[in-house]
Amino acid sequence: MLNRFEGKVIAIAGGSGGIGSGVSHRLAAEGAVVIVGDVNLDAAEQTAAEIIAKGGRAMPLKIDIGDEASVKAFVHTAVGTHGGIDGFYANALDSTHMGDDSDAVAIDMAAYDQMMHVNSRGYFLCTRHAVPQIIARGGGCMLYTSSGAAHFGLPDRPVYSMLKSGIHALARHVASRFGKQGVRSNVIAPGLILHPVMEAVLGPQYLAEALTGVKVPRLGQPKDIAAMAALLLSDDGAFVTGQVISVDGGASMRP
Ligand SMILES: NC(=O)c1ccc[n+]([C@@H]2O[C@H](COP(=O)([O-])OP(=O)(O)OC[C@H]3O[C@@H](n4cnc5c(N)ncnc54)[C@H](O)[C@@H]3O)[C@@H](O)[C@H]2O)c1
Repeated sequence: MLNRFEGKVIAIAGGSGGIGSGVSHRLAAEGAVVIVGDVNLDAAEQTAAEIIAKGGRAMPLKIDIGDEASVKAFVHTAVGTHGGIDGFYANALDSTHMGDDSDAVAIDMAAYDQMMHVNSRGYFLCTRHAVPQIIARGGGCMLYTSSGAAHFGLPDRPVYSMLKSGIHALARHVASRFGKQGVRSNVIAPGLILHPVMEAVLGPQYLAEALTGVKVPRLGQPKDIAAMAALLLSDDGAFVTGQVISVDGGASMRP
């Protein structure tokens, strides 16, 4: 295993979900102190405990990206405890209303507002509070998770697709505005990434169809996102900024 994060502190919002826990483990295995942030503190504590049991360094910390006071407190606690942050990965997803995200005519606007409030405005709040601390540290990275849904014209999920597209614009803004102050900013756009929650929700037929849509022999796993996150957050990504990188087994490539 590489050791690209020795002496680095990386904070993750949504650090204990299916993808987030994979990223947290990977960064810790490469030497980072990982601030495992999640609205589900029990899950964050579990992920951090697993990392520590393997000899890594992690601190669980509650963050609700939908609440500015919570985001601010998260960043300040991370900085106060560890002396600064070198990277912030906004990866969280409040999926409460994903099932309501039907189409632009039918959707209940309360569901629209809540999805946007947490998953779009929340990423903005993470940016707003993390970037000044990364600059104060002397430079580092913002990283965001969007989705292949941001690239496709889908008959459903209009709000999810919109908010993930907006994250691309946010990341490019950060790269453009703060790049000369040492802040790189990129997005990972995953395809279908299997983890226990997804496997429970999606049936075998859906998974079989998804497999026909990728150009490699298997579907995605959290370790695939973790590998790209580690590259982009490390100095190996030093000349990569303002980019949306698809990690999707070729599902989004042009035919
Ligand atoms: N799994 C996939 O197939 C897939 C595909 C494309 C994009 N994505 C994106 O990847 C990211 C992670 O997805 P996942 O599949 O690991 O989902 P997940 O539900 O397993 O993880 C999401 C995490 O975010 C946390 N969270 C929810 N609301 C929060 C809030 N208000 N503040 C802080 N944390 C909050 C949850 O507790 C959970 O730990 C999401 O942004 C998602 O849109 C996933």
